[in-house]
Amino acid sequence: MAVDRNSDSGEAVGDRRGRVWSPGTGGLLYGGDYNPEQWPEPVWAEDLELMREAGVSMVTAGIFSWAKAEPSPGRYEFGWFDRVMDGLAGAGVRVCLATMTASPPPWLSHAHPETLPVDAEGVRKSPGSRQHYCPSSPVYREHAARLVERLATRYADHPALAMWHIGNEYGCHTRQCFCEVSAAEFRRWLRERYGTVEELNTAWSTAFWSQAYGSFAQVLPPRAAPTFPNPAHQLDYLRFSDEALLGCYLTEKAVLDRVTPHVPVTTNVMPNHKPVNAFAWAAHQDVLSLDYYQDPHEPLPEVRAGYTFDLMRSAGGGRPWLLLEQAPGAVNWRPRNGPKAPGLMRLWSWQAVAQGADAVLFFQWRQSLGGAEKYHSAMVPHGGRDTRIFREVTELGRELASVPEIAGSRSAAEAALLLDWDSWRALELAARPSTLNQTELSLGHYRPLFEAGVACDVLPPDADLTGHRLLVAPNLYLLSERDAEHLTGYVTGGGHLLVSFFSGIVDPHDRVHPGGHPGVLRRLLGLRTEEFWPLAEDERVTLEGRVNGRADLWSEAVEPEGAEVLAVFGKDHPALAGRPAVTRHRVGAGTVWYLATRPEPRAMRALMDTVRAAAGVEPVLPGLPDGVQATRRERADGSGGFLFLLNHSGAAAEVALPEPMTDLLTPAPGGPLREVRLEPSGVAVLSRPGTARARDGAPDGGRRGA
Ligand code: GLA
Repeated sequence: MAVDRNSDSGEAVGDRRGRVWSPGTGGLLYGGDYNPEQWPEPVWAEDLELMREAGVSMVTAGIFSWAKAEPSPGRYEFGWFDRVMDGLAGAGVRVCLATMTASPPPWLSHAHPETLPVDAEGVRKSPGSRQHYCPSSPVYREHAARLVERLATRYADHPALAMWHIGNEYGCHTRQCFCEVSAAEFRRWLRERYGTVEELNTAWSTAFWSQAYGSFAQVLPPRAAPTFPNPAHQLDYLRFSDEALLGCYLTEKAVLDRVTPHVPVTTNVMPNHKPVNAFAWAAHQDVLSLDYYQDPHEPLPEVRAGYTFDLMRSAGGGRPWLLLEQAPGAVNWRPRNGPKAPGLMRLWSWQAVAQGADAVLFFQWRQSLGGAEKYHSAMVPHGGRDTRIFREVTELGRELASVPEIAGSRSAAEAALLLDWDSWRALELAARPSTLNQTELSLGHYRPLFEAGVACDVLPPDADLTGHRLLVAPNLYLLSERDAEHLTGYVTGGGHLLVSFFSGIVDPHDRVHPGGHPGVLRRLLGLRTEEFWPLAEDERVTLEGRVNGRADLWSEAVEPEGAEVLAVFGKDHPALAGRPAVTRHRVGAGTVWYLATRPEPRAMRALMDTVRAAAGVEPVLPGLPDGVQATRRERADGSGGFLFLLNHSGAAAEVALPEPMTDLLTPAPGGPLREVRLEPSGVAVLSRPGTARARDGAPDGGRRGA
């Protein structure tokens, strides 16, 4: 089994309180959300049979089972769930057991309407969908903890129990609550943070617009107001709301730590989800999990996925993570829901593994006949076994099971993108010089690295940056003096840093750093920005110099103060023609670049290639054909590793290998390959012969000819 509850061998993921998740032994996990309460029991037997056929090794069960497990307050009915767990154990399927608290039963809000969340307009949300709870509600938390205690006690030693899945997608629907309970909690939180109301007034710049508070009792959540609310107030409420969600998670985790200290815990975070700081939550999980739903209608979905997967791996300190949900085909929650064409589900699943995942799970196992998600694809579609999706699901299960040695392997990156959750939140508040979207901006910087085949981490600016030759800071608007010093130390120590516009502008309370822009980065960058000059929606300007091409979105009046000018704005930007658009500043043993606009992708790629070359960061494989992704994972015991090649382009591609290698998915009859041909959506998982499978007794693990 992949999940070893007590082992301390191998590459353990998380070791707090002696609890470890060790992916090293049983291979990659495969399965999906299992919601048996939607089906009559005879269907369960067929489920087990089909799971065996599909190669399912782990399901996450019980996510929405609260109403069935506790049909009235304090009356627990677990008999049916015992049969589910026993059936799964008998079929050799491990369970990532949900704590069942994601959707409270109707009786809870009936008896305690105050547990329902209230939006900024003061509207109390109704039950009847899911996640209808106020994160600060002590009543919700008490009921949740009581259920978790029962559940944990009952299944503590169940042979199917692999790990706990706490809650579900925290903050997916209810990100913030503005009710009176939340207001009181917020005041408590503020008192702890600021001590005195004077401190609060200073931090929030309340001298502006007559907002000075006379006492904490006067402070409310930032509810709907006539115009822009105080941004520092909003920022603190975003922090507070994140901590309230984390409080729900930790309330349940505390029960599990006490009752099942030997069982690892996780929670499935949503991708690029501003309400929940994935870096902060990572410290409280034994293994990190992500839900990821590509949009097949989006151009370059692999780039957005790549960024998110890299963020996930980095948040877990480089350790393997779990893809806990994805769709086998279409979702049903976009305005138009594109299906995954043949081969895409396989390709995108392998992309997750190539970028560090040790599990590939789906939402959901069997497609619902009723309810809100009946048009969301599932591993077993409405049409049952004889469907393209089930055939592809089964084929993928077989393929993942054939390469157990990948589990536990890790990858390293010399480049990193910086992302700070507070800065992201502050950047996207209203009343900025321009509307800016952090994820889109980050993707604009990530894409040239991804397309060049460069391995990349995504780190907060206060991370340990040693080992990274190149850092890229996309629009790091909010930056504390301490973090700015950290970055300065990185550069003076020999690092290479690319900073783009509207970085280093404000402190953690959204107060502009004094002394001119870009505040705490001015000295490091060797320049001054006198005026921001955002561009109109359809405006494009030209860049001239060592970076050529067009740019949009933003420009600014930069005056060098030691930095060298590499490119300037062209004549089509009369106000700033000839003024710096790209600069370079050598500081100590390192170099820092500044980008005062958003270049089009081709120009961005050229700039990134230049910066990368200066930093000495090489791609995983040189000369990759367009649209082919290459990543590496190395085995922890040093016995070799894996090269993943994924063809995201619509055309076949040939890739030359650096040395003879074996494709573990389709071993070539003629022995190791020097070149790989990838069909459109093709995948190859290569290993050096004689290393990766050496321990199995045969250089290729005895697969060839099998
Ligand atoms: C989320 C939820 C699942 C399901 C899927 C549908 O990931 O966790 O319960 O609603 O979305 O895509």
